[in-house]
Amino acid sequence: MPHRRLAALMTASTLAAACAADVPEPTGPPLIPLPASVRMTEGTFSLDPGARIGLRSAGAAPVAEELARLLRRSTGYPLPVVRQEAEITLEESGGRDLGREGYTLDVTSDQVRLAAATPEGLFRGVQTLRQLLPAKVESATPQQGPWTIAGLTIEDRPRFAYRGVMLDVARHFFTVEQVKRYIDLAVGYKVNHLHLHLTDDQGWRIEIKSWPRLATDGFYTQDDYREIVRYAAERFVTVVPEIDTPGHTNAALAAYAELNCDGRAREPYKGREVGFSSLCTDKEITYRFLDDVVREVAALTPGPYLHLGGDEADSTAPEDYERFVARAQRIVDTYGKQLMGWAEITSGAVAQHWDPRAGDRAVAAVARGAKLVMSPADRSYLDMKYTRDTEYGLDWAGLVEVGDSYAWDPATLVEGVREEDILGVEAPLWTETLDRPDELEYMAYPRLPGIAEIGWSAASDRSWEDYRERLAAHGPRWEAQSVAFYRSPDVAWR
Ligand code: ACM
Repeated sequence: MPHRRLAALMTASTLAAACAADVPEPTGPPLIPLPASVRMTEGTFSLDPGARIGLRSAGAAPVAEELARLLRRSTGYPLPVVRQEAEITLEESGGRDLGREGYTLDVTSDQVRLAAATPEGLFRGVQTLRQLLPAKVESATPQQGPWTIAGLTIEDRPRFAYRGVMLDVARHFFTVEQVKRYIDLAVGYKVNHLHLHLTDDQGWRIEIKSWPRLATDGFYTQDDYREIVRYAAERFVTVVPEIDTPGHTNAALAAYAELNCDGRAREPYKGREVGFSSLCTDKEITYRFLDDVVREVAALTPGPYLHLGGDEADSTAPEDYERFVARAQRIVDTYGKQLMGWAEITSGAVAQHWDPRAGDRAVAAVARGAKLVMSPADRSYLDMKYTRDTEYGLDWAGLVEVGDSYAWDPATLVEGVREEDILGVEAPLWTETLDRPDELEYMAYPRLPGIAEIGWSAASDRSWEDYRERLAAHGPRWEAQSVAFYRSPDVAWR
């Protein structure tokens, strides 16, 4: 199928002829995520050595500078940023009601004009503009032109407000620079949340000044974490810190004996089993600990959410679990954040559906008033192996080829969960088997862009057949950025 919106521009006979001959249909540019509307027009824009980037309001300046930085690297052109109409113009305008992240992009033979109500909308539009240019625009060194874009008009806005990626830095630690690269690649697909799984049985990865023995080996100082938050915010990405509780806490229980019911420190743990650790829900010190951790992490985190995990607490009795979560909720309230948790959590503003066998938890979360982030393990967990032969990754939720990861819809996945219950989608990457950045990239690409598209684009516009054609065009972009992606045999890579 060609894109729906483009199909509308084709006559019935050309469409029939294209299908009958089984030749590639004329399609629009291979954009991911697919915009809400694309209309091809006359003319072709050419980015020439004398081009400038113009802005009409001060708010657009950081986004214009970021665009200039990207384009200068690969074109080698000076591309000055100027305060006037120019060959590429960024405009912050009330204009059409496309929301905080929406934008319009008009390309004619004379000009590229990007308009949005906010700098964030402009930033999302810049990602579209990047994808309209040849793949070599992603290169870190100057390349030969031409740098042309076919004329078109795009109007775009996201389906869901939350389009996240999660990185488990607890099982294996990743440095600030490695996290920045993960952010850089993801924002190209309009991802807007970075969930950091900061603590687990195997490690505690964020400095807590009032409990200094928690983080001792491979961790972010508070300044490191601030730097990640700052870098993400510059790219309109909200960091969601996760402190997993009351289970997945062996690292804390090893660092502080007094957090254990029996007062004895646990041994450090490097294995892969889950469900064996629990904070001691009967001890007051547990809540002083939680208060200190939440206070410090909340103070470092400008975003609205504080994720307290809550998953797989198999060593916490259900009544203790509920009591713990109720107190955790009050602590999170005290520090002005919204509680987020995996779907087991019994309180909080946002619950994250993950276990394909447990849709009832998502339904229960909605019934108590929570919104859902959809991250079904058998679709969106980037650590699942693609095939039996995938070198690393897990397979407890199945083998997840690129098509499996793409071909689902959040609003029809769990019976009883409707579109309006859903805040968005997330692609978690757990790192039990992954300790190098190229391994992260291999598991995330090409599945991450598909999850990002599910979060951004209308379900009625999406099909695997169309998506795999567009995806094929992203291979050369990843090559230009040295991304170690998986060349799925289900995609005709260019
Ligand atoms: C999870 O995969 N335990 C949330």
